[in-house]
Amino acid sequence: MVNWWKKSVVYQIYPQSYKDTTGSGMGDLNGIIEKLPYLVKLGIDVIWLNPIYQSPLVDNGYDISDYYQINPVYGTMKHLERLLEEAHQLGIKIVMDLVVNHTSDQHEWFIKSAESRDNEYSDYYIWIDPKEDGSEPTDWGSTFGGSAWEYVESRGQYYLHLFAKEQPDLNWENPKVREAVYQMMDFWFKKGIDGFRMDVISLISKRQDWPMALPGAVYTKSYYVGASNGPRVHEFLQEMNRKVLSKYDIMTVGETANTTVEQAILYTDPKREELNMVFHFDHMHLDYGRFGKFSDVRFKMSDLRNVMSEWQDKLEGRGWSSLYWSNHDQPRAVTRFGNDLFYRVESAKMLGTLLHMMKGTPYIYQGEEIGMRNVPFEDLEHYQDIETFATIDEMMAAGADREYIKRSVFLKSRDNARTPMPWTAKEKFGFTTGTPWIDFSPDNSKINVEQALADENSVFYHYRKLIKLRKEYEVIIDGVYELLNPNDSAVYGYTRTLNRQKLIVICSFTENKVNYEIPQELAGAKLLLSNYTTSAQCLAQKTELSPYEALIYLI
Ligand code: GLC
Repeated sequence: MVNWWKKSVVYQIYPQSYKDTTGSGMGDLNGIIEKLPYLVKLGIDVIWLNPIYQSPLVDNGYDISDYYQINPVYGTMKHLERLLEEAHQLGIKIVMDLVVNHTSDQHEWFIKSAESRDNEYSDYYIWIDPKEDGSEPTDWGSTFGGSAWEYVESRGQYYLHLFAKEQPDLNWENPKVREAVYQMMDFWFKKGIDGFRMDVISLISKRQDWPMALPGAVYTKSYYVGASNGPRVHEFLQEMNRKVLSKYDIMTVGETANTTVEQAILYTDPKREELNMVFHFDHMHLDYGRFGKFSDVRFKMSDLRNVMSEWQDKLEGRGWSSLYWSNHDQPRAVTRFGNDLFYRVESAKMLGTLLHMMKGTPYIYQGEEIGMRNVPFEDLEHYQDIETFATIDEMMAAGADREYIKRSVFLKSRDNARTPMPWTAKEKFGFTTGTPWIDFSPDNSKINVEQALADENSVFYHYRKLIKLRKEYEVIIDGVYELLNPNDSAVYGYTRTLNRQKLIVICSFTENKVNYEIPQELAGAKLLLSNYTTSAQCLAQKTELSPYEALIYLI
């Protein structure tokens, strides 16, 4: 039997920017309930909700102060229960975010832990004595700038925070911490949620010899040598699986930056009983530059093809992939990998096609299904995100010029994905009646849901067809991937084979017309879907592709 999560398409909702029903300027749970029919229309199976727990929102909810409470800006537990009930009635499952590498510094565990070295919570976090000269225990830097260590007077010690100083890292070496996490997970499964997306889960086990940072590490951030895929991470996940996950019919996806395919197999091989799948970042790193993510480097299609193929090939029969172009931490896919100026609709459909026909579980990030672009904010003042601020400071300190900073923020800031969902073209775009927590994208009057639903050729309807195809053809779920023409400079083609069926996917990454040739035995395949009305119904051995043309054939 194929697990349900292998056949599912996941839709990611960033609650704070989805739909506001109270006029607070922040989206809420009732807003999500209101939009369920829209998601039914799109055809998705699962919603992944970014964190909605109690939080001071220093990192937009990835700093949790109470795992058992809903942040009142989103509603109450009753609203969540209603969302679960209504979604389930419509056949949609709900996956929540599990953020257990760290908590908020406002969590009562941390408040108590910081008080003294000898109370019940003293060892819930990672506290280390200063070096003899009073300095930090290691030279690790935090993801959001500065040192990863913060000194606390009351204990005369430093605590570790791989992210903001308001996000202290939990001490997974302490069995009491692990038990508390498992108990909390049980609570949510008993409420009826259908799985967890596990935030930076590859970082939970730290090397206890506290090595020095990796010299010169930029995008890997210096602490990775001591924290990424650490010595006990698999042991911890197996324990979690044994004690909690295995008791429920749920799905799990781990966020695992800087994880190779070989490591991903360790996380996702069903025999090992850890996670169902992980988010890898190899394709997200293709356009990194001197300052890591924030750069104006453009990806190369051949690199993308190599990375995607490597993951498809090596996970075959070993583990399971999650397929994504974007999420709340990444810029908009059509700007990054497509052409959002002249071929926005075509290239958004092409990217959707390439990804959704691969092997794995596809994730759609809100707004991707209507082809939202990066946000052309006029100035840096419009940005809100902690990572963006930290990087701007870092770049300024390193002497980067303002224009370069602006350009890379425009290309890479997480806020590109975080502006409110535009539901209509009208004032405030159907998102709120109040003042939105972050400015609207200037694109909204043209790119919005109302427009997409009214246009049968919109990106929305293409995504809907892709999702439908996944339900109709087993070869899309289970077929073995094989790359076509590995040296073609502009076109990414591949096949998927199951028994005697073969799916052929051809995607052009260029704004020029190009010729593409397929092996003789594939000629004659029948068209299933394309992003041009002019595509041939029957695949010829030689085809001329239109700009960003995407074709799916079956033989
Ligand atoms: C993950 C989240 C990101 C957050 C970070 C710290 O990468 O996706 O939004 O800032 O972890 O929790």
